[in-house]
Amino acid sequence: MADHRDPRPKPESSQTDDSASPSLAPEQHTLTLESLAPERSGARFTRRTFLSGVGATGLLAGTAPLAAAAPVLDPAEQQTSNASGVTVKLRVNGRDLTLHNLDPRATLLDTLRERLDMTGTKKGCDHGQCGACTVHVNGRRVNSCLSFALMHEGDEITTIEGVGQPGNLHPMQAAFVQHDGYQCGYCTSGQIMSAVALLKEPVGPSDEDIRNAMAGNICRCGAYTNIVAAVRQVRTQA
Ligand code: FES
Ligand code: FES
Repeated sequence: MADHRDPRPKPESSQTDDSASPSLAPEQHTLTLESLAPERSGARFTRRTFLSGVGATGLLAGTAPLAAAAPVLDPAEQQTSNASGVTVKLRVNGRDLTLHNLDPRATLLDTLRERLDMTGTKKGCDHGQCGACTVHVNGRRVNSCLSFALMHEGDEITTIEGVGQPGNLHPMQAAFVQHDGYQCGYCTSGQIMSAVALLKEPVGPSDEDIRNAMAGNICRCGAYTNIVAAVRQVRTQA
């Protein structure tokens, strides 16, 4: 069960009580240590968590020795690159690409974003629950965070960059703009990828059918009404 006690340091007045009882409770030790620890251990250790953990003073004092001792790789770089990795040929947005030293455990999402710099595909939950990472594989929508890149040799992969570009938008992209089908925009590329795939799926004609077909794409801003309006418009035009 979550501990809801306030982890902030107590004001001096209240620390008087602690001096009367010098040993801290075990959970107080834990809270102090957690503020210095990375968000996650092992492979998920990031520059960001490191910097936020040590603070600016520690950074200035220790930058040179740390850099020399142990270069800290971005976790996605660690996940996609591996000196003993494999060579994979992918076809993305009509281009044949050969990737060397790809970690066989690299997801399609991380490979697109970190190796191919196609950052239009977003990482939300990284657990197959939000749809932000939706791409097309052979015309079908797929959560790229749940799929290994290695599995897609010979497949036709399409990302949001391959659907349309500024000045040459896909009708679904134009409809999202027209209907304000977004607020922060983080989910939008996944929403559009699902909506484009939906045009070729056996989905009923009603708005409820659209909502059901788009249920795998979460919008934390709640732009659902406008998203449905955009999808409805394109479906009626198609
Ligand atoms: S990032 Fe893939 S489903 Fe959320
Ligand atoms: S527009 Fe912000 S999460 Fe959907």
